Amino acid sequence: MGKIQVETLPNGLKEVTIEGRIARDDDEVFRTLSSISKSSSDIILILTSIEGADIEFYNYLSELSMRTKFKAIAKLPEVIESCKNVGITVFPSKKSAQLALMGEETTKAILSRLKEVPILNTDAYRLMTYISNPNANLEELEKMVRENPGLVSQILRMVNSAMFYRGNKIESLSPAMVTLGMNNLRTLFLYNFYHGVTNIFTSQKDVIDHGKQCGILAEFISKSAKAPRDEHSKVWLGGLLHDIGQQALAFVFPEKYQLVLNFAEEEKKPSYFGELMIFGVDHQAIGRQLATKWNFPEYLTNIIGDHHSLKAVGWNRLTLPVFCANNYLNERNGTPYVSYYSKLVGYFMLYKAEITWAESPSEEFEKVLTEGHPMF
Ligand SMILES: [Fe+2]
Ligand SMILES: [Fe+2]
Repeated sequence: MGKIQVETLPNGLKEVTIEGRIARDDDEVFRTLSSISKSSSDIILILTSIEGADIEFYNYLSELSMRTKFKAIAKLPEVIESCKNVGITVFPSKKSAQLALMGEETTKAILSRLKEVPILNTDAYRLMTYISNPNANLEELEKMVRENPGLVSQILRMVNSAMFYRGNKIESLSPAMVTLGMNNLRTLFLYNFYHGVTNIFTSQKDVIDHGKQCGILAEFISKSAKAPRDEHSKVWLGGLLHDIGQQALAFVFPEKYQLVLNFAEEEKKPSYFGELMIFGVDHQAIGRQLATKWNFPEYLTNIIGDHHSLKAVGWNRLTLPVFCANNYLNERNGTPYVSYYSKLVGYFMLYKAEITWAESPSEEFEKVLTEGHPMF
């Protein structure tokens, strides 16, 4: 017969420990779990001392997981396996389970705080969302753009810039939008949206500047490796936005974020170590959530959500140049970084291009950084 114990921790968290072998008719266990789930949502469920359970117990946990966000801890392989089979993630220790709960809280707080700031109620966001819909058409888009004279002149400037100019100056909106095409227009709207976001995250000037430099370098890497033309602007935008999660974290929790920066400096470790300790989640994961919430295209969500770990299938071709540019900048700025040169070589190999700089890219990179971006 199973035993169940409930303890309330000082931070309000409920710690529920279950022991022994749980049978389908262990009423006390089921009843207690049910009443706890009604009164509390933050629950740590310790299953390290159970010796096994009937399938009904795991099914019940699965049902419970829809109503409350409990975190289970288990060690016995049989218990871990049974939990997995009903879709429950198991944590190895109390600490990791608590961090996961904390990470969820942080994410929730950021998403709800950013809902209050006036970035979603802008033309750029409306256009960006419209264009991500597969039924989007240029005619409709043009009607929306016409409402915003600032955007009209940006589009005309873009189409007549060295990047798109083909010998004839284009002076009206319709042919300009056709020439640029959906992908370039989308980049432009995303850029405008991001520009609006940076006006809100003004205290994050260093991170914003780091993003601008990262975008320029990542695009240069992509061009130097002779990656297909349409990848250049994607990589640039990815570099620009890669640390958007860090900006959001620091914007919503300025004091706590200072602790992360102190930690990184004292321990000489990348900031995400400190973020995981202090917030239970890092800026890469926060960035991914924001990018998804804000309808960013999938490639951009992947760059933002994978720029440290490079877990995307086949070393995502768009993430790799951002990874290299980011770590180059961190190295030269004296912030902890991850070695990137072999990845840079690998990226060039993907396109069968030859690296034009010898051992170190710094001379060329610095030159490009001083030149800035031709368009923005
Ligand atoms: Fe980062
Ligand atoms: Fe970065």
